[in-house]
Formats: sequence, structure tokens, C-alpha cells
Amino acid sequence: MSLQPFSDQNSQLPIEHGSLLQFSEDPIACMKRLRQRFGDLAVLREQQQNLTFVFSPELNRQVLSDSTLFQSQFFAVRGNRRSAQRRVTSGLLSQNGSEHRDSRRALKDVFSLRALPGYHRVICDLSTRLTAAWETQSQVDLNSEMVQFMLQMTSAILFGDDDAEFAEHLGELIDKWTHHNHRVGMGALVSAPRFAREYEHLLEQAEHLDESIRDLFHRHRGRPGTNTNVLSLLLNASGDQQSLSDDALIGHATLLFAAAHLTTAHTFSWTLFLLAQHPEIMSAVKDELQRSVAGDVPSLEELNQVPVLDAVIRESMRVLPASSYSQRVTSAAAQLGCLHLPPGSPVIFSQYITHHRSDLFPDPDRFHPDRWRSISPSPYAYLPFGAGPRMCIGAPLAMTEIRTALIIMLKKFSFAIEENATVNGRVISTMLGPTSSIPAKLLPPDEVADTVPVQGSIHSLLSLPAAAYPKSTTARRAA
Ligand code: HEM
Repeated sequence: MSLQPFSDQNSQLPIEHGSLLQFSEDPIACMKRLRQRFGDLAVLREQQQNLTFVFSPELNRQVLSDSTLFQSQFFAVRGNRRSAQRRVTSGLLSQNGSEHRDSRRALKDVFSLRALPGYHRVICDLSTRLTAAWETQSQVDLNSEMVQFMLQMTSAILFGDDDAEFAEHLGELIDKWTHHNHRVGMGALVSAPRFAREYEHLLEQAEHLDESIRDLFHRHRGRPGTNTNVLSLLLNASGDQQSLSDDALIGHATLLFAAAHLTTAHTFSWTLFLLAQHPEIMSAVKDELQRSVAGDVPSLEELNQVPVLDAVIRESMRVLPASSYSQRVTSAAAQLGCLHLPPGSPVIFSQYITHHRSDLFPDPDRFHPDRWRSISPSPYAYLPFGAGPRMCIGAPLAMTEIRTALIIMLKKFSFAIEENATVNGRVISTMLGPTSSIPAKLLPPDEVADTVPVQGSIHSLLSLPAAAYPKSTTARRAA
């Protein structure tokens, strides 16, 4: 089939002319507008550059299930073939076809359900340490606490906790490189004037990162293997997994850290914020934990006995998905709805927009965990971890971290958001997270605070309940 690039001679096509910068500056506002104007399929065009957007489960399915036609090209700036930048951008999200399949196979066991008991101990230890450092009645910033907590957790689970300082230092290097890489990538997209200078700096950062990861391998090789971190399992693996060279492992280590750290931290921050602002739901979770989790720390079996908490996590990841959108590029001519896409066309799908469709999720902007008693959306309608052959490889690990650590936090504390706090959230890179502090007071575990008014851009992302007035002076006790 020979397809022609779409042209705007046909005024019926869903094409908006405008700056692509609108999308990079505020992806959610831009996608909401396009969906409102055109429906399930839309194009943003600037001169010869087109960004195509799909917003429906059926179009998500077409794009996500065909990984041959719709390929991943996550990193815009790859560096030359032998550069450190090329190595650190060579993880799963840059791979396609058989290379991607082989890597998924090589990494499969370290992310399987069988590997979880080893990681569970680390998750319990770090969560207990976090809550031991918190004091009742003191104030914390949930956003920075969760980012720091997940820096420690991700470093420990990926790189080991016996040299925590080095693992965290490496995590920080990866975070810095990821941030800079995103800025330079956007510069490449829109030809920002600073691009050339920033590019040089990016290459230097990649070299430093590459050296530090090699140093980590060296440290690990001198030690007996453990089953509590991913790197040790990979370095001591047999069979398929042994086929990973050091160069390949550098790409995987970088991507795994970058994919795991902030996505999970943001999910924690949003879930704690939403629970604190919905007292009835917080009370129901507390009741459940009292009934179903015997000690301060849940066993792996107990993680499967908390349906109320599960619905809360599911709903939090629906209404504020940490991964808000992602992109594919067509490898050949493709037909999507009424559009003929030439090879090399970028196509964007969005968790945030799909999850806020009122035909799939009635009253979609409200946090309403009870809805999960009666709905069971398709994998392309509810996709916080993506869907299809590139679905998040770390999803079981992430869910174990989130369930375990939330239980440990909620067994020890409740949270009261500071009245009139400014809570901002927006997308940076592809991730939707808080961009302000989330100030909260730590309460004893059996107290549940009232909803308070908050300011900030959070209101453009979802509808919060009205604050309870007159505000009661004492927080309510959980039943
Ligand atoms: C709440 C936490 C997390 C969320 C919301 C999340 C979300 C996602 C999503 C949406 C994708 C698919 C991206 C796409 O289709 O373009 C993805 C892929 C991926 N995630 Fe996660 N993730 C989380 C945690 C983790 C963790 C803990 C790890 C590993 C330690 C991880 C590693 C990866 C990797 C390697 C990929 C690429 C898979 C591939 O291309 O085959 N993620 N994640």
C-alpha cells in the first residue's frame, strides 16, 4: 500500500497549526485542547513538522500493540556510535525488534514475581527507616520526602544497599543526566539557541556517568552475589541473562533508574496527598489496615489482602498518572483513522487524557476509588504502566514498593495538608509530578484530618472536594 503524507488541503482532517513548543511547555493543556477540538485523533503542525495524537482505547491499542510499525525512539540525542552518550541511551526504550525482545528476555527473571521476596526485605527496611525519622506533629514536604526516599530505594534495589552512599551518588548522577538530556532533547526538537553548548555539556555528563557505572560493576564483581538487588542478580546470572555485556548493562542500568525513580516517587506523593484530602477514604483504608495487616510491616501475603488500598492506588494512578504520555515513531507508512502517516511520524498516546475520558470513567476528574468495585477497563483504557509488548517491566516491583511502603507509613501516621498551601503539578519530560512542596503535618495514625482548601495548578489536573467549613479544631479519629 502506498500512502501519501497527509496534507491540509483537506479541511476535514483534524489538524491544528501552531507552535510545537506549546506541547513541550504544557503537554496536558495542549492535549486537552486538541482532544476537545478534534476528538480521538489530532495533529499539531508547525511548518513541515507534525505531531499526531491518539486519545481513545482503540487507537491506543493500534499504536501500542504493533511494536514493529510503531517503534520506540525515546531519546532524541544519541551521540555518536562509540560515545558514552550512545551507551547510556541504549536501554530498552531505545531498542526495537529482536534486540528489544532479547533484552526483555534477559531482564525478565530479575523483575519476575519470583524475585520480589528478595526486594521486599529492602523495601520494608527503608520504609521503616523513613517513618522512624518522622515525628508526630512535625511538618514535612511530602514531595521532597518521597523523591529522597525513592532515590534511596531505587538505588538500593537496583544497585545494592551495602554501599548505599555510592549507589545514591550514582542515582543522583543519573537524575542530573536525565534532566539535562531532556532539556537538550527539547532543544534539538525546537532548535533552541543554547543547544550546541548544552550538547557538549551533556556528552561530558554522559562520560562521567559511564565511568561511575563501570566503577559500580567493578565493586560488585568483587563481592558475593545477593538476591536483594537487580545488578547483583544480573552479574551473577546464568543462561539468557549472562549474555548482557557491560556496554549493554550500562544502558539498562541508566534507563532502569531513570524509569523507576521519579515515577514511583510521584505516585507516592499524589496518593498521600489525595488520601489526606479525602478523609472518608483515609478512614476506610485505616480500618482495612487494622483488620488485615497484623504488624507494623506487611508480609508479602498481606499485600494481597488490602482491596481498599489497592483501589486507592489504582484510582490515584488513574487520575494523576505519573507517566502522563509517551511516544512512538512509525517505521513505515501507516494508517491511523483518517490519517495517512509517512514513515518517521511521531505519534503520542496519553495516559492522562485516556484516563480522564468521561465515557470510560464517569466523573473522571474526581478521585473516587469506589468506582473500582464495578469497573474493569481494558488494558488500553487504563494504562498507568503502558500496554502491549513494551509495558513497564518494573510494574510488579513498583506495585510491591507502593503497597508495602504506603502500609508502613499509614500504620504509623496520618497526614494533614497545610491549609491554603500552593500545590502545583505539571509534566516534566513525560512525567506528571508535583512541582511545588506539599506541606503536611504528621498526625498520630488514628486521627484523620479534614479536607483543607489548597491553591495552585493542581486544580487544573483534577477536582478536589470542597474544604469542610467551619473547620473542626480536632482531627477526627479513625473508626
Ligand atoms: C509507579 C511507577 C512506574 C510507572 C508509573 C511506570 C510507567 C511506565 C510506562 C507507562 C512505561 C511504558 C512507556 C511506553 O510505552 O513508552 C514504562 C516502561 C518501562 N518501565 Fe516503568 N513505570 C514505573 C516503575 C518502574 C520501575 C520500578 C522500573 C524498574 C526498576 C521501571 C522500568 C521500566 C522500563 C525498563 C520500561 C521500558 C520497557 C520497554 O520498553 O520494554 N518502571 N514504565
